Amino acid sequence: MSLQTQKSVYLIRLNNLFSSLSVSLQSILRKVGDCVIRHCSYSDLRSVVEINSVTLPEHYTDYFFESILKELPESFIVAETNQKIVGYIMCKIEFGFSNFRKLGFVKKGHVVSVAVLQEYRGKGIGRSLLVEAINGLAGRKSDEIYLEVRVSNDLAVKMYQSIDFIIKSKLRSYYRDGEDAYLMAFEFG
Ligand SMILES: CC(C)(COP(=O)(O)OP(=O)(O)OC[C@H]1O[C@@H](n2cnc3c(N)ncnc32)[C@H](O)[C@@H]1OP(=O)(O)O)[C@@H](O)C(=O)NCCC(=O)NCCS
Repeated sequence: MSLQTQKSVYLIRLNNLFSSLSVSLQSILRKVGDCVIRHCSYSDLRSVVEINSVTLPEHYTDYFFESILKELPESFIVAETNQKIVGYIMCKIEFGFSNFRKLGFVKKGHVVSVAVLQEYRGKGIGRSLLVEAINGLAGRKSDEIYLEVRVSNDLAVKMYQSIDFIIKSKLRSYYRDGEDAYLMAFEFG
């Protein structure tokens, strides 16, 4: 290989390295200890489905996860520790009656699912996922956000309350097993 060709090869490699570095740096939203909070990519979906299956009783088809990522990538966030996905949150945008103003028709973010693997809980990862999902929904000019949570899920209720979600109502027998849900909502100021 001539010196000139060798130089070009190095330059191309350097260029590739910088562009991949800038992509990964760009997508980091925040860090919680050694955990990176970033937007989800299609290649993360397998891990997200796996986390959902071991942490929550509500499961969805692969197509559902994909369609949510396509619809609202700004608020589909994952937590990654040592190249392992350890948590996720995914949301939708809907239009409907306000949970705060009578007869108001608003754009609402809906937190569809959030979970952190058991051994990574209690470190601020869940809250960081939620905060970044809220930022994504703010960027889409949502007026409010709402979610359903099992009445027995004290930790999740506490997490939502710590970010100013309030319990708006109780949904009787909302879950398949008959448990009630709280409808909790957050209004952008
Ligand atoms: C709910 C869940 C996502 C929280 O994730 P997490 O990473 O443990 O949450 P964080 O560490 O960010 O904690 C956020 C807040 O939740 C509450 N919380 C979390 N762990 C707690 C614990 N062991 N004891 C008391 N409060 C706790 C606290 O209010 C905490 O805020 P603080 O640290 O200022 O006290 C996680 O418990 C989970 O994946 N649960 C199973 C799936 C699930 O229930 N999802 C919600 C469905 S609606």
